[in-house]
Amino acid sequence: MRHLISPLDFTTEELDKLFDLASAIEQDPQKYAHVCDGKILATCFYEPSTRTRLSFESAMIRLGGQVIGFSDANSSSAAKGESVSDTIRVISCYADICAMRHPKEGAATVAVAKSRIPVINGGDGGHQHPTQTLTDLLTIRSLKGRLGNFTIGLCGDLKFGRTVHSLIHALVRYPGIRFLFISPEELRIPDYIIEMLKEKKIPFREVIRLEDVLPDLDLLYMTRVQKERFFNEEDYVRLKDFYILTAEKLKLAREDMLILHPLPRVNEIDVEVDDDPRAAYFKQVQYGVYVRMALIMTLLELA
Ligand code: NCD
Repeated sequence: MRHLISPLDFTTEELDKLFDLASAIEQDPQKYAHVCDGKILATCFYEPSTRTRLSFESAMIRLGGQVIGFSDANSSSAAKGESVSDTIRVISCYADICAMRHPKEGAATVAVAKSRIPVINGGDGGHQHPTQTLTDLLTIRSLKGRLGNFTIGLCGDLKFGRTVHSLIHALVRYPGIRFLFISPEELRIPDYIIEMLKEKKIPFREVIRLEDVLPDLDLLYMTRVQKERFFNEEDYVRLKDFYILTAEKLKLAREDMLILHPLPRVNEIDVEVDDDPRAAYFKQVQYGVYVRMALIMTLLELA
């Protein structure tokens, strides 16, 4: 039985197959409308979510399956002190596959140890968010036609942003990737990622000003400052509007640069940018459904 805990759980060849399936679903969704008839997905979300939970639920329903779950830890037995291990043993009796989000790093790994059904990590604290990474990769592959030979700028909260951490781990396996990390000093990319890049001899640079590197980028991945992972409100308030991408700033960027964002957006991309043809963040949302449909099929061995 397979799970998805980290983006590295699939080889790049397996990812290619998954993305081919997602693209086939995009071309002809009707063909897949009954693939999961009789199957149940459980969504166990101990942390807020709009896209990840609802895209999983939409994906399962579009495949003909059904959905159960909770979207708030307080409405589950977690509020009574039940452990993730016990909860997944119970969920294994109710569902065929489970997508889980938890504020603690490693929670999905704990669940896997006791699960009788495939577990998908829908985000574990500031650690990983592999299905957002699959969404990001499918978006890049679909809109750029390739998954290598890019200069990518990751901008914003690189310290706490799990989507960033996951995406970097996935991208280092493709050729010709150069990273530009754009963040204030306080929100720098964690040292363990820097060490990993040095070890693999992957080129990267850390900068503070977005304008300094904007002209060099093939891809710009904007992120929200992760309010919920700050220890004090004052630091958050000081840093939350550090970057605001505007139409004016975008004049510095290449005509074919893609602007990605896992969403939710707060202030870091001005709404006027939404009409720019380079803005791909709402397209990402749609790819997120196709890729989760492909993932559910793959983990249930229905692909
Ligand atoms: C992200 C997350 O939860 O990490 N959201 C998402 O799933 N698309 C990004 C964020 O919350 O900033």
